[in-house]
Amino acid sequence: MLESLSSKVHDEARQGEAYQPQGAGRKEFRKKFYIESYGCQMNFSDSEIVASILNDNGFGATGNYAEADLVLLNTCSIREKAEQTVRNRLQLFRQIKESRPGMLIGVLGCMAERLKSKFLEEERLVDMVVGPDAYRTLPGLIEEAEGGQRSVNVLLSRDETYADISPVRLDSNGVTAFVSIMRGCNNMCAFCVVPFTRGRERSRDADSIVRECADLFRNGFREVTLLGQNVDSYYWMDEATDQTVTFARLLEKVALIDPLLRVRFSTSHPKDITDEVLETMARYENICRYIHLPVQSGSTRILQLMNRTYTREWYQAKVDRILSILPGCGLSTDLITGFCSETEEDHRDTLSLMEYARYDMSYMFFYSERPGTLAARRYSDDVPEDVKKRRLDEVVKLQNRLSLEKNKEDVGKTFKVLIEGDSKKSAADWRGRNSQNKVVVFPKEGKAFRKGDYVHVAIEDCTGATLIGRVVE
Ligand code: SAH
Ligand code: SF4
Ligand code: F3S
Repeated sequence: MLESLSSKVHDEARQGEAYQPQGAGRKEFRKKFYIESYGCQMNFSDSEIVASILNDNGFGATGNYAEADLVLLNTCSIREKAEQTVRNRLQLFRQIKESRPGMLIGVLGCMAERLKSKFLEEERLVDMVVGPDAYRTLPGLIEEAEGGQRSVNVLLSRDETYADISPVRLDSNGVTAFVSIMRGCNNMCAFCVVPFTRGRERSRDADSIVRECADLFRNGFREVTLLGQNVDSYYWMDEATDQTVTFARLLEKVALIDPLLRVRFSTSHPKDITDEVLETMARYENICRYIHLPVQSGSTRILQLMNRTYTREWYQAKVDRILSILPGCGLSTDLITGFCSETEEDHRDTLSLMEYARYDMSYMFFYSERPGTLAARRYSDDVPEDVKKRRLDEVVKLQNRLSLEKNKEDVGKTFKVLIEGDSKKSAADWRGRNSQNKVVVFPKEGKAFRKGDYVHVAIEDCTGATLIGRVVE
């Protein structure tokens, strides 16, 4: 998942982020809602759909929960710690509700789907539990809850894609945006709860995706990231032309909107990414040279237990193929340490695979058993926690070394960078990213650039997480 460029230990989902409303609202709202999102980019993208549905029903956003009539938590179930974070957060809202009983609390997203009405038994002050495919029914559920009834809708759908809903961009930098192209997942990776919380895979109407991206471009955005759990299995039948739209074709359609619109995507499953996609990337300069290709483990035996359906050698061949069609392509991955029965030898296979692929960045986790998954039912979670964490530590240290090495190789090169805003450390510097998704920071030096401009930056220095340079004319 795209979160940030630095190598991070993700032993918990992305921390909750609250929605800060921007600018004066045009509509008149009778009530206020506050939303916090956890987990993957798709969940953040869903919060933008929820905001749109609520806006249409008289609820305006607030960044201050103390004044909200409705508090929503869009939750994640991917690891146990992600769920614990949400439960802790709910305690705070429970206290607030004691002094403001009229305030409604709703739990959305994957944890709502996983726990269903059990949530209402466990968390007595929650008023609504709404799964990821049920957001259209929110207005009715809110009405029920306002009437004192606790409401639940966790029905999963085979065709809901929210295609016609224009997301309200939350916390936007006005330059980069995420666009959902599909929902659900049909893979059954043994460790993963997503197929249970998000349901069957379905693709969104290609025209509605292209329209949304074109609208974003017209509104000044310069980069879109096409989102799905497994984007390479995107498939749409265009009835008007009787043509099928594969992911490669969709990428091309979005790339053709304008050469100034950068296109990224996430996530690719190594078993599904095709030469057609790689060749399409090679044909369009504005499709970014960056692939997030989660490997999970470097041991063929563990990969088989995980049901990832590829071997170590097959994955290595995929990396070779990517770099032969797209020389210099940025690569990142997801890794899990301490999966069921993982030995020291399996772990060393993971380390050596990392050296082979030389990832620019990784999201690294230790295995967390999730109820109901294949692994929970079939295998024993038998690697002791201290071993899982020690292996994670080794993986993180190696990734930090690789990230620094890869960044050092970029010193002396010049990259085209899309300016996203001020650097986090200093308003005297700009921050942007190159095509390979690396963060680039450089001084403004009085030049009249703006967010959304492309500039060429010569790299002079780096850290493991950032390239540092100067604009060249
Ligand atoms: N669809 C994406 C990943 C979605 S979840 C893909 O297939 O790559 C994001 C990452 O969380 C996964 O790639 C995996 O590395 C990690 N993850 C998923 N379930 C986990 C679990 N039970 N314990 C630890 N990490 C897990
Ligand atoms: Fe989970 Fe595997 Fe689907 Fe990714 S591809 S969401 S890891 S089941
Ligand atoms: Fe979490 Fe659900 Fe995403 S479990 S990672 S929010 S799909």
